[in-house]
Amino acid sequence: MWISTSAVYFISLTASILLYRGFLHPLGHVPGPFAACLSKLWAVAITLGGRNHVTILELHAKYGDFVRIGPNEVSLSNVEAIQQIYGPRSTYKGVPRPAHSESLMSIRSHAEHSQRHKIWDRAFTTRALKDYHPLLSNRVRQLSDRLASECLKGTVDIGKWFNACAFDVMGDLAFDSGFDIVQKGDIDGYSRTLNEAVRIGAIFINLPWTAVSAKLPWLPVACKKAKLERFAQQQVRKRQAKVAYRKDLSYWLVCASGAAAVTCATQFSPAEAVLVIVAGSDSTSLVAFFLLYFLAQHPSVLNRLRQEIQDVYITHGELTINHLNELPYLNACINESLRLFPPVPNGHPRLAPKGGATVGGYLIPEGTTVIVPAYTIHRDPRYWTEPNAFRPERWLPEGVMEGWHHDTRAFVPFSYGPYSCIGRNLGRQEIRLTIAAVIQRFDFQLAAGFDARAFEQQITGEFLLTRPMLPMLLRERTKCERGWHQDSSC
Ligand code: HEM
Ligand SMILES: *[C@@H]1O[C@H](CO)[C@@H](O)[C@H](O)[C@H]1NC(C)=O
Repeated sequence: MWISTSAVYFISLTASILLYRGFLHPLGHVPGPFAACLSKLWAVAITLGGRNHVTILELHAKYGDFVRIGPNEVSLSNVEAIQQIYGPRSTYKGVPRPAHSESLMSIRSHAEHSQRHKIWDRAFTTRALKDYHPLLSNRVRQLSDRLASECLKGTVDIGKWFNACAFDVMGDLAFDSGFDIVQKGDIDGYSRTLNEAVRIGAIFINLPWTAVSAKLPWLPVACKKAKLERFAQQQVRKRQAKVAYRKDLSYWLVCASGAAAVTCATQFSPAEAVLVIVAGSDSTSLVAFFLLYFLAQHPSVLNRLRQEIQDVYITHGELTINHLNELPYLNACINESLRLFPPVPNGHPRLAPKGGATVGGYLIPEGTTVIVPAYTIHRDPRYWTEPNAFRPERWLPEGVMEGWHHDTRAFVPFSYGPYSCIGRNLGRQEIRLTIAAVIQRFDFQLAAGFDARAFEQQITGEFLLTRPMLPMLLRERTKCERGWHQDSSC
């Protein structure tokens, strides 16, 4: 009797929730797949299916600029919305993140965020970035040497090594030389752990109540994450014991330079060190990875880029970050990779403010989660002519012909506004150096039988895009080919 009463109660409750969500909800007028209106589980299923960046693009193609993707969620694919939702005067709030410890990324009060942001800013000035150059060059040299030995053995899993290098770089910047993955391999599994944590994080973002599970210490993922945090703590402590501080990224987060002296706080949150690694490693290496993938398929682009880089090499005898910063074609290629495969493809959730908001004639009720999906907007033919073509020239004055759409407002790989990426210049410098070093030293091609369609279909996008295995054959170019000797011996 008791069971049947509660069953009836449960069924009618569920039915009325579904009825409300499906038909009576204030978002009822926004089109979208019916299942998505009923339950968050739809979004979770899409996320776990892995292809949600493509799903969202297809939904917009079908339903238009506004799509309801959850009971209280809309995706908005229109360039006019970006400023309003993410801009500096936005009244939208960040979605609470299931973070266990405070870091720049988990702070959601505007005032507190801007205060912490000021401290982070000091680590990303042009001057500060210069001090990181030797660290970066050293790691990219290790990568290049590693590739030179790997390529003798057969096909190379290029993405794996790019990722390892980016991990080592961020380890150097966040802790005093944290990792050595290019040279020694991922022996402690930190890189693997992070990738798993990011995937789990995507589920948490969709279903905040599942975050509780991360607090259950016996779950394998929680164990691994705890291991990473312990490592972070250790490294931070080791660093604090030192007398002389190297001016790496974490220096700026812990040290304040007064008029006379530099004082360093004894407390540096390991959460922020981990944030540097989480935010800066996969993202950066993905851009370089997808760019190399495109270059392997577009020999004329590769030739032009190589010429540009080789000229720098011949003029200066080396490739340094300073020399690479201003190369127009290299920068155009990087933008084109960021456009077609933005590492964070689905946009960043924001909550509609008190009293709701109107965008493009739609009323978005208070508390609705809104996203502007980068992947979709980057491939919208209203903003980009031939949106799916890899065509770096579009970023140069010569490449935008009469009637071409090239709306850079619709280019948001780093998001937009006060919560956007603080590391974009650092990331770009690292990508320039990595790409330049690799194409200057190696010839490369995709292994025989490589199927680009199948490759692209394997790319998933839960939170970050993932990289499928990309089998490449590399050959070290001779010194003459690299433009070493301008003399008669070549
Ligand atoms: C090219 C590679 C990169 C891409 C595409 C990228 C992308 C992004 C995006 C889209 C966001 C906004 C996330 C959101 O709104 O939820 C973000 C935030 C952030 N990124 Fe990056 N990022 C890159 C490299 C880096 C690097 C090298 C660092 C170095 C530490 C970094 C540090 C951060 C931090 C700290 C935030 C949080 C900012 C805040 O919440 O105020 N990123 N990044
Ligand atoms: C690449 O995009 C950035 C915006 O993120 C822009 O400032 C820069 O000028 C672009 N580069 C080229 C070569 O157009």
